[in-house]
Amino acid sequence: MIPRIYIPADSGALALGAEKVAKAIAGELAERGIEAKIVRNGSRGAYFLEPMVEVATANGRVAYGPVKPSDVKSLFDSGFLTGGPHKRWLGAPDKIPFLAKQTRLTFARCGVIDPLSLESYKKHGGLNGLKNALELTPAAIVTQVTESGLRGRGGAGFPTGIKWKTVLDTAGDRKYIVCNADEGDSGTFADRMIMEGDPFVLIEGMTIAGIATGATKGFVYVRSEYPHAVAVMNKAVEVARKAGVLGASVLGSSHAFDMEIRVGAGAYVCGEETALLDSLEGKRGMVRAKPPLPAHKGLFGKPTVINNVISLASVPVIMDKGAAFYKDFGMGRSRGTIPIQIAGNVRYGGLFEAAFGMTLGEIVDEIGGGTATGRPVKAVQVGGPLGAYFPRSLFDTPFDYEAFAAKDGLIGHAGIVVFDDTADMLKQARFAMEFCAIESCGKCTPCRIGSTRGVETIDKLAAGIEPEKNLALVTDLCNTMKFGSLCALGGFTPYPVMSSITHFPDDFKPAPVRVAAE
Ligand SMILES: Cc1cc2nc3c(=O)[nH]c(=O)nc-3n(C[C@H](O)[C@H](O)[C@H](O)COP(=O)(O)O)c2cc1C
Ligand code: SF4
Repeated sequence: MIPRIYIPADSGALALGAEKVAKAIAGELAERGIEAKIVRNGSRGAYFLEPMVEVATANGRVAYGPVKPSDVKSLFDSGFLTGGPHKRWLGAPDKIPFLAKQTRLTFARCGVIDPLSLESYKKHGGLNGLKNALELTPAAIVTQVTESGLRGRGGAGFPTGIKWKTVLDTAGDRKYIVCNADEGDSGTFADRMIMEGDPFVLIEGMTIAGIATGATKGFVYVRSEYPHAVAVMNKAVEVARKAGVLGASVLGSSHAFDMEIRVGAGAYVCGEETALLDSLEGKRGMVRAKPPLPAHKGLFGKPTVINNVISLASVPVIMDKGAAFYKDFGMGRSRGTIPIQIAGNVRYGGLFEAAFGMTLGEIVDEIGGGTATGRPVKAVQVGGPLGAYFPRSLFDTPFDYEAFAAKDGLIGHAGIVVFDDTADMLKQARFAMEFCAIESCGKCTPCRIGSTRGVETIDKLAAGIEPEKNLALVTDLCNTMKFGSLCALGGFTPYPVMSSITHFPDDFKPAPVRVAAE
């Protein structure tokens, strides 16, 4: 058998030098006259080990990482094609603690298969969910998704089945499935990883959504910063179309479904679902007032399901293994698994898919291994730029939508960014306001004006000007933004600001300014 070598072409692995490693391995194979097949897979998400190269041996896969081009000669000398020992030897990938501790449902194939091989996808359980869905009525599919307890992974945690039911029950000559792949939150990369590492699972999920709601056309709105994801998705759609997964007759059935990949222009607010729809329609991305809901009047005024990548990519496993199987994972009203993205100043950064319910402390200290700098963890921002900063005293909070909300925080898209004790939380609060001012769509006053006034007031605090008065002013401003903004950009910016003030009050007490004598 020709040896098979897996080298990730995932953006994260590429950023860490995977392309150079691939070239060095190809060169070494040629020089030594060895015939081998190089597969460019996605990443398994253990970024601290990337570029992680795997070889398929008679005893299963053996991983090496992080591999540098300078390691390649010695890897061959050590017989790595048969799993030989080397300083980069990691053993069986699924035994690496970071990976072994996970519950991989949505990401089961990511980093394992050749992303563009439909055969490989099918061999690993792909299309089983779609085949099951084709045996059911649309209403029965919606019931399965509802009963699984799946909630939107884009941020708001809205029950996916209820959204689908609204679209199913709304009459329309045309309906759409829109996949939100704008992934603008800081420290998040789950959507990108799936699109680059297992694109067919998203195509399958969107097709099931189409069949369940009567939509025949889908769009994936991908952020412009993801050129690799765009390229892989475009190729995967072509492959799926050729194989009859997409098209006038999905897998030979009476259902039609096709899709297109669209690229955003780089605005955070275009991740907000109605601004995204405007952008997709070719307009400037401005938030729309609701009602009407997109489910009633969405893309081009038609009933539209808009879901995050991970929400849609989680549907195939639900339709394959059943609602009860999926629902069995998790806690409270947070069912199933969630791909937690561990980033920032952290030792073991990467994607960790687990059932809801792990505590923040377990994720940061045990899985993430604390900070990369080795200094104490000061704060963890959970849920992107609109998420609260959690201090160590809240590390017992379980990863669950309601538990985070009860502590004035949010899970969002499940990105966590770790900061050590050198972080200045006043600067972080200022950054939150500044980010809002830059990214505001400008439609409503609390966000458009409030964020700029927020930056100015925090600057006064930093300069020690009337600290008590300005602290009260920031708090008041945050209340106005929270309750008066049209969407969550203005409405949630107070979370990082107020959590910084509440949990790190010392950072907001600079030395009082000295007024120069006239
Ligand atoms: C400012 C802003 C940015 C957002 N960015 C994203 C994003 O990048 N990706 C995403 O899926 N949802 C984002 N959302 C949430 C979407 O509006 C929407 O709730 C989501 O796409 C619905 O899909 P889901 O139910 O599957 O989560 C954002 C919301 C706001 C207010
Ligand atoms: S809160 Fe900000 S981003 Fe949202 S609608 Fe208002 S101005 Fe636009």
